[in-house]
Amino acid sequence: MATIFSGIKPTGIVTLGNYIGAMKHFVNLQDEHDAFYCIVDLHSITVEIDRVELMNNTRSLAALYIASGLDPKKSTIFVQSEVKAHAQLGWMMTCIAGMGELERMTQYKDKSKGQERIGAGLFVYPTLMAADILLYDAGLVPVGDDQKQHIELTRDLAQRFNSRYYETFIMPEPMIAETGARIMSLTNPEKKMSKSDANPKGFISMLDAPDVIRKKIKSAVTDSEGIVKFDRENKPGVSNLLEIYSLLAGIPIPELEEKYAGSNYGVFKADVAETIIAELEPIQQRYHELLNSKELDEILDQGRDKAELVANKKLAKVEKAMGLQRKRSK
Ligand code: AMP
Ligand code: TRP
Repeated sequence: MATIFSGIKPTGIVTLGNYIGAMKHFVNLQDEHDAFYCIVDLHSITVEIDRVELMNNTRSLAALYIASGLDPKKSTIFVQSEVKAHAQLGWMMTCIAGMGELERMTQYKDKSKGQERIGAGLFVYPTLMAADILLYDAGLVPVGDDQKQHIELTRDLAQRFNSRYYETFIMPEPMIAETGARIMSLTNPEKKMSKSDANPKGFISMLDAPDVIRKKIKSAVTDSEGIVKFDRENKPGVSNLLEIYSLLAGIPIPELEEKYAGSNYGVFKADVAETIIAELEPIQQRYHELLNSKELDEILDQGRDKAELVANKKLAKVEKAMGLQRKRSK
């Protein structure tokens, strides 16, 4: 069974889109795979971020990982910067990569657009991501659509390394979920739900209180047809709500369409809101228990130790391959 690696940046609010598009899959995968789930804080510093905010976000994301169902007995859960091999292999990957291929990365192009000053870290970000994946011989990387290009680059770098030195890395494959890959904004259902939405009504935070969720779903943009039917093209708002409802309640969309045939959007939306609340409430409860607990620190310590063991072994192989290992006298 292939090893799984994935990571989320601790950059702030974690949305329902992150939960459905990433975390829920992480949880499902841990039963059948050796899995490493990382809080990629070194990726967060590619843009300016307040130090206290970063520390809080890191802890919060770790608590959310576990509260959502990641089990430290099954998965290795850890903070990227605590395993130094990430930064070290990241540098080596930067030396393998070319300017041209990094310039072609769409995430870089999007994120650097309109910026007065572009951090060099933002530019080489994909080489650090490649290092994350390659350190663990991960064969499968569950990510959203937007990360596919970075996994392709990872494969190119691994291949180049293998042929320039010797066979060291295996080729990772992206694992893009068919459902829930794109949860849309509640205020503009043509756009992906994102925490960077200027209007907080566009997204649901995993930590939103029940009443906030009810209000946001109530005001979600739909259409004037008044028919609960899945049609991404012509009814993107209703389709998005149907998808969220279906994925969380485990009810197929056609069944939901039938259930709400003849109802108005008000009734439908109220049920969508309650479904989200039912999913998030127990997670929030566990989150608050974990957030300032010793248990969380112990889980992250243990995760770091386990990850370090694997990563350091790989790093030593890479150093040897590249000629970065002096024979020591003792
Ligand atoms: P980000 O918040 O963009 O760093 O994304 C972290 C993870 O959540 C990635 O795997 C994304 O693909 C996934 N993700 C983010 N937003 C959404 C969304 N609206 N729908 C589905 N997945 C998402
Ligand atoms: N770049 C990813 C994102 O923006 C986060 C990430 C960093 C990642 N390293 C990774 C994802 C390794 C998968 C594997 O969402």
